[in-house]
Amino acid sequence: MTFLKNRYILSLQDLDSNEIHMLLDTAEKFKQEVDSGKYRQLLKGKILGMIFQKPSTRTRVSFEAGMLQLGGHALFLGPNDMQLSKGETIEDTGRTLSLYLDCIMARVYDHTDLEKLSTSSTIPVINGLSDRFHPCQILADLLTIREHKGKLEGLSLAWVGDGFNVCNDLLIGCAKTGINMTAACPKGYEPLEWIVKLAQKEGKQNNCNINVINDPIKAVKDADIVITDTFVSLGKDNEKIQREKIFLPKYQVNSDLLRHAQNDVIFMHCLPAKRGQEVTAEIIDGKSSVVWDEAENRLHIQKALLCSLLEIS
Ligand code: CP
Ligand code: NVA
Repeated sequence: MTFLKNRYILSLQDLDSNEIHMLLDTAEKFKQEVDSGKYRQLLKGKILGMIFQKPSTRTRVSFEAGMLQLGGHALFLGPNDMQLSKGETIEDTGRTLSLYLDCIMARVYDHTDLEKLSTSSTIPVINGLSDRFHPCQILADLLTIREHKGKLEGLSLAWVGDGFNVCNDLLIGCAKTGINMTAACPKGYEPLEWIVKLAQKEGKQNNCNINVINDPIKAVKDADIVITDTFVSLGKDNEKIQREKIFLPKYQVNSDLLRHAQNDVIFMHCLPAKRGQEVTAEIIDGKSSVVWDEAENRLHIQKALLCSLLEIS
């Protein structure tokens, strides 16, 4: 295993393509050995602090279960659990937590909080979702794609919907692993322009095209993978009505849209999903859906990431 010494994983930008592949290989090994108990002592004595400013099912439980599966321990630090909620700075929090813990995972509203946490912490920091990126999700997605398609390079992926945090990081992840990605988003809901430019540049080096358009049918045409996310991300509840008007019906993944893709297309979604909104029940619960593998793979890829950051093999 290649170690990620003194590293902060705030987005897929923080990993090169070899490191991504190394993490996928390690995750595959962990997944195969989960029942054998072979790695049950690997993180013995290690403690992960999990800061959550927003709710979570998969991120919280998969990180905690992952630490336990490898013999370590995880501390849940909710929105009201620390002096952070009473005005202590994020920098002082990072410095303090570094004295007790081996690694920090944080889910925050504002991505700059993660940057501040990284600057002040002397231990690894992992982004568990911010308003800009979701690297653990994208690593799990790449693992899921590789499992189902046997490769990454040369595949065609269509993103349909909101070009927010998951989409931003997916653009980078696809560019680094040679997946052609077209994101179809409504006007005004496209991914961040500087990220698109960066991904396009990186994609060129890896022989893949990265595009952002507004037409979902064009994006989905002949795609091997179709992926979407909620229309109303955490923290955007006040935009719910306006977003539904803009996104529906054009940006819903349903059988009419999916028939433009390859016959063996896989459907992906980071979850939580709203059936009848960004995706129909027929699709998410249908034969092309791999969303449960995607959710499971969060566990294995995060174990790989933790071991690599903590320099344990
Ligand atoms: N996909 C994901 O991050 O899910 P949670 O919000 O439940 O953690
Ligand atoms: N875009 C979603 C992802 C949830 C995992 C959000 O930010 O709420």
